[in-house]
Amino acid sequence: MRDDITNIAIEDYLNELMPPRTTALADLEQRAHDHGLPLVGPVEGQLIYLLAQSIQARSALEIGVATGYAAIWLLQAVASRDGQLTAIEQNPERITLAREYVHRAGFGDRFQIHEGEWFSLLKKIDGPYDVIFLDILRHLSDEHESLQALELCVPRLREGGLLIVDNVLCNALVLEKDNAAPIVRGIQAFNRAIMEHVSLESVILPVRDGVAICRKRND
Ligand SMILES: C[S@@+](CC[C@H](N)C(=O)[O-])C[C@H]1O[C@@H](n2cnc3c(N)ncnc32)[C@H](O)[C@@H]1O
Repeated sequence: MRDDITNIAIEDYLNELMPPRTTALADLEQRAHDHGLPLVGPVEGQLIYLLAQSIQARSALEIGVATGYAAIWLLQAVASRDGQLTAIEQNPERITLAREYVHRAGFGDRFQIHEGEWFSLLKKIDGPYDVIFLDILRHLSDEHESLQALELCVPRLREGGLLIVDNVLCNALVLEKDNAAPIVRGIQAFNRAIMEHVSLESVILPVRDGVAICRKRND
């Protein structure tokens, strides 16, 4: 539950403070509300936008793009420097929606989507990217897959680039000790790995379902 991590009233307060969004973002928020589609919401959207702006990002990769909501936030940042966003998604209906909404937001020519299973697609994508937004952690079956995702992302990030990861607190299930399910053990292992990784400096923020921000060190 969201309220295992943050106070719901505070989350609602933060959401209400956010300035009005563009039509494409506002329509996606309504669609997600009506149909239960996954998206990061305006506060986390603004967070990833600001992080991308803060490093003058021009290239971004999103793994698990769903309907394109977070993609539009990232595109708002990279487009100001004539940049691009590459995305991975396997759900055909969501791919159609992502294309439609990114186009409506005015970023259709800056958006490329690879359709299919993240693992085989990511191996074929070279990078390096300024920002990678990894948003499939709760879909990875175990520790082997979650650590594989990390080891595929780090080489595809430029030095000084940011790996941003959603759902790293997994409804507070990361607090479980011996009885954690394989997916949760995968997220626990992922969190330890980003903190111990020689090439990363990382922090986890208790925003929504937990957001990790990892900067790739300069050699
Ligand atoms: C949490 S949603 C992403 C939400 C999106 N980042 C946003 O905020 O707008 C995760 C997405 O990952 C996709 N996904 C899950 N497993 C996948 C896989 N094995 N390969 C590719 N995409 C996958 C799901 O279809 C889903 O749309």
